[in-house]
Amino acid sequence: MQTYEDILVDSVQDGVLTIRLNRPEAYNALRTQLLSEIADVLAQAKDDETVKTVLITGNDKVFAAGADIKEMASLDAVGVMNDPRPAHWRAIAQFPKPIVAAVNGFALGGGCELVMHCDIVIAGDNAQFGQPEINLGIIPGAGGTQRLIRTIGKSMAMQLVLSGEFISAEQARDFGLISEVTIPERSFERAMELAKKIATKPPIAVRLAKESLLKAYETTLDSGLNIERKAFTMLAATQDRNEGIAAFMEKRKPEFKGK
Ligand code: CAA
Repeated sequence: MQTYEDILVDSVQDGVLTIRLNRPEAYNALRTQLLSEIADVLAQAKDDETVKTVLITGNDKVFAAGADIKEMASLDAVGVMNDPRPAHWRAIAQFPKPIVAAVNGFALGGGCELVMHCDIVIAGDNAQFGQPEINLGIIPGAGGTQRLIRTIGKSMAMQLVLSGEFISAEQARDFGLISEVTIPERSFERAMELAKKIATKPPIAVRLAKESLLKAYETTLDSGLNIERKAFTMLAATQDRNEGIAAFMEKRKPEFKGK
């Protein structure tokens, strides 16, 4: 893996590729360069069979404080229209393998939206989530208005986006924005534990499970059930499904091959 300016990429460990946001001087503000680097790593990880899951994290104090406000200041409406960042966000949203996040400290604006692009989120109890864009005279620009309302419901989504107030890790968990709260020192370890566990599961089933779950955001129940049924049927044609069932019957550990 090449080296990057705004992120650190650890070598793959038990199927898990770790990306660390690394602009501490700017509270990991998501400038275009940082987003393009994440998109580049994910483009490689997508086709790399050794990568089963991706873990994204920040540092002890901050996950990400949002889009880079200083960079944003230089863009007029035409600049925003031609902004490459939406394409990088799309690359993250469309990444087919699971993304687990370990969040400590601030996850604000684009940082909170990055959280919503991840599939499972573990946060330290020092984490704070919010969409403070309203204080800048703008609104969330990386899917926040759409994903937040689908994730935490109308009233809380309105509260966050309109007031700019932050919520705690416990509140974020209670509203379903994240899945678990730990002490800050344990969030990375717990996220890694989960990422590694998922990395041992049959990759085709994992991929289709993620795809089916995410479709629930954007389809009717009927077409969502159809998508699930097709994925379920497709899995009946995989060697891993035969292996999983045979291993259960033979009371042994399955050996999944992604076939
Ligand atoms: N962009 C650029 N730089 C940022 C930044 C951001 N989003 N957030 C923090 N920084 C920088 C600060 O400018 C400061 O740098 P300097 O020392 O060079 O001045 C450094 O990080 C530390 O910040 P503070 O001194 O402000 O630290 P604090 O502990 O007092 O406050 C904070 C922390 C509450 C996170 C505060 O920095 C803050 O409010 N940041 C902005 C949060 C925000 O508005 N995010 C939304 C951005 S817009 C967006 O994200 C659009 C979208 O949907 C994609």
